[in-house]
Amino acid sequence: MEDGKILVTGGAGYIGSHAVRQLCEAGYSVIVLDNLSTGHAKAIDPRAEVVIGDVRDLGLLDALFTRQKIVGVMQFAGKIIVPESVSHPLSYYDDNFTAVISILRAMRAHNCHNIVFSSTAAVYGTSKEPSITEEAPLHPESPYGFSKLAAEHLICDCEGAYGIRHCIFRYFNVAGASEDGSIGEAHPVETHIIPVTVNASLSGKPMQIFGNDYQTRDGTNLRDYIHVLDLADAHVLGMKRLLEGGSSTIINLGSDKGYTNKEIVETVGEVTGLPIHWTFGPRRPGDADSIVASNAKAKELLGWTPKRDLRQMISDDVRWRLKHDNLYGRQGNKLSPDVKKRLIDYVSSRHFSTFYEDIENADKDHLKKIKAVNRLA
Ligand SMILES: NC(=O)c1ccc[n+]([C@@H]2O[C@H](COP(=O)([O-])OP(=O)(O)OC[C@H]3O[C@@H](n4cnc5c(N)ncnc54)[C@H](O)[C@@H]3O)[C@@H](O)[C@H]2O)c1
Repeated sequence: MEDGKILVTGGAGYIGSHAVRQLCEAGYSVIVLDNLSTGHAKAIDPRAEVVIGDVRDLGLLDALFTRQKIVGVMQFAGKIIVPESVSHPLSYYDDNFTAVISILRAMRAHNCHNIVFSSTAAVYGTSKEPSITEEAPLHPESPYGFSKLAAEHLICDCEGAYGIRHCIFRYFNVAGASEDGSIGEAHPVETHIIPVTVNASLSGKPMQIFGNDYQTRDGTNLRDYIHVLDLADAHVLGMKRLLEGGSSTIINLGSDKGYTNKEIVETVGEVTGLPIHWTFGPRRPGDADSIVASNAKAKELLGWTPKRDLRQMISDDVRWRLKHDNLYGRQGNKLSPDVKKRLIDYVSSRHFSTFYEDIENADKDHLKKIKAVNRLA
């Protein structure tokens, strides 16, 4: 294994926290950078070092890359709610695109040449193909999808220009939790059908399935689901491939099979043994009949296939919720003494000049202003 650390942005979030754990299991030294906007300090693996801060903060990135030898970045940080991206596009482009510019700038300035990036099936839009390959037409239908596709293009451009190689993963629907129930899905606003259904089952509250007249086996939307641990395994393989000199690639992460919304509700009911009070609601605009990923490329390039099925995704999610009825708790973001011990102090070591001097066409006046504001001039 190459000497040096892996920087995981968004490592306090749902998928990032599982990837951090798998990276630590595989023997990597990990630094988590997270602004805790939707993540939870309690979710960060105790073996990882922690930086609480924003990926868009170039001064912070410079200090971090100067003080640590970072050989690879996994960029999970970002915003994920499609309808929210429609009402707040600036905020979505900022977190999902500007943040990627920042991380690539830091990587370029500090000769870090490997990035694994979280993209999404939303870059395909409502594809008509039954099984979506990586070559399917790209038609994002929301600012969220566009912001991710823009970031993908930027990452690809940085390979030709600066030699930064990438493994871009386009995820389909992610679900499940760690097998010991210690970490799991805890988005501040939950829109994903598996946790929504598990919550409905455990709480007895009503829920809706949107639409019953789609062209699928039972009339409800059919989607591809993947266990978060399978996803995390793929990330470790993707980073290993890059560190070993493998070429850049874009890969779907899905199961190659789909389940309808009705099947999800039925399976949750079977796992919990509790009734679910559901009704049909109206169709939602833009929902495609059926979306399933081809995962042939992931098999071929990474030797990866999903090991966990829908029932395990649901039972792991149920276990996580039963063990943590308040999820990470109201004070999920309060830093425990343990996290504080692992916090890297960066404030005193800003190196704006070395960082920016190397950046092509840097605007000198602008830099002076930044330095003045930060009292570093
Ligand atoms: N969850 C899914 O089903 C799914 C599907 C497709 C793609 N993705 C992608 O996977 C990634 C992770 O998703 P998730 O479900 O774990 O979301 P999440 O909200 O749980 O995690 C995102 C993490 O990033 C952090 N963050 C956000 N903006 C930041 C910034 N500017 N600086 C530092 N930290 C920041 C948040 O605090 C959080 O910990 C996202 O990029 C998302 O687009 C997720």
